[in-house]
Amino acid sequence: MKIRMVFFSATGVTESVARVIRDRFADLGAEVVCSDITPVESRKEQMTLDGYDAFVIGAPIHSNRAPRVVREWLGGLAGGGRKAAMFFTYGGFSVHPTHHSTREILAASGFSVVSSAEFLGKHTFNLGGWAAMADRPNDDDFAVARLFAEKTYRRFTGEDPGVLGDLEKTAHSEEALDNFELFRFAAVTQLPTRDGMECSMCMKCGDVCPTGAMDVQKGEADRQRCIVCLGCVAACPEGILRINDLRALWPMKLQGEGETEESLNMKVSKVYL
Ligand SMILES: Cc1cc2nc3c(=O)[nH]c(=O)nc-3n(C[C@H](O)[C@H](O)[C@H](O)COP(=O)(O)O)c2cc1C
Repeated sequence: MKIRMVFFSATGVTESVARVIRDRFADLGAEVVCSDITPVESRKEQMTLDGYDAFVIGAPIHSNRAPRVVREWLGGLAGGGRKAAMFFTYGGFSVHPTHHSTREILAASGFSVVSSAEFLGKHTFNLGGWAAMADRPNDDDFAVARLFAEKTYRRFTGEDPGVLGDLEKTAHSEEALDNFELFRFAAVTQLPTRDGMECSMCMKCGDVCPTGAMDVQKGEADRQRCIVCLGCVAACPEGILRINDLRALWPMKLQGEGETEESLNMKVSKVYL
């Protein structure tokens, strides 16, 4: 069984879960090739799945869906009837319709989706002062990641002939979800910037940017291209690159979502079959 796995991960949460899943597949006897599709360059050439039996995609949830660049990239793959699995990491708020919408994209690209999963991870906006899931993923989340690999492997090999069942679909249209994405620009009013401060010019911010939005000379992200993944802020070794202070928004976010920090921390990672 040869499995092709890819993940998108701006701040390392999805990557940490992907590594656990990859290792469990390998323990089970699969030959796994796993790569990071976060850098712009990695998505330039269309990936071929020739020689692989199954495909796995891992991504963070960005405003109820996989990040736009991931959705676009998946739409260009040729599944050729292969089995696929998907998993997502998120900061404890809305999950659906990410599973549903990504399955639709994979199905349109010729995959048969056999499983999905969601894992709690620290919210990217903690980099601006939120306090969501600061200690996740933890050992419990990684245990669910191993379980996901086991269940998925059984479906990939045919030992379990099932496919992914019905998924919750919210009433939101894709257009409504596009509008929902604009929330990030309402929250992150100041996109990643070093506000004219000097830095060592290590260029890491430009290297990690998944959309080529970072102007490393000016130390500012371009509003048209930035997806606010905050990979550049997380990667800045001097901590100079930042966004606006999001602390005042945190209680409003909790209230608007009907959550408390305690209720968020009670949430668990889940497998969908
Ligand atoms: C632009 C943006 C939108 C996000 N939207 C959601 C969301 O709708 N629900 C949620 O629970 N977390 C959301 N998050 C948090 C991320 O899903 C979470 O922190 C994820 O684990 C980050 O993964 P990564 O480090 O692999 O990029 C969002 C993060 C960003 C940057």
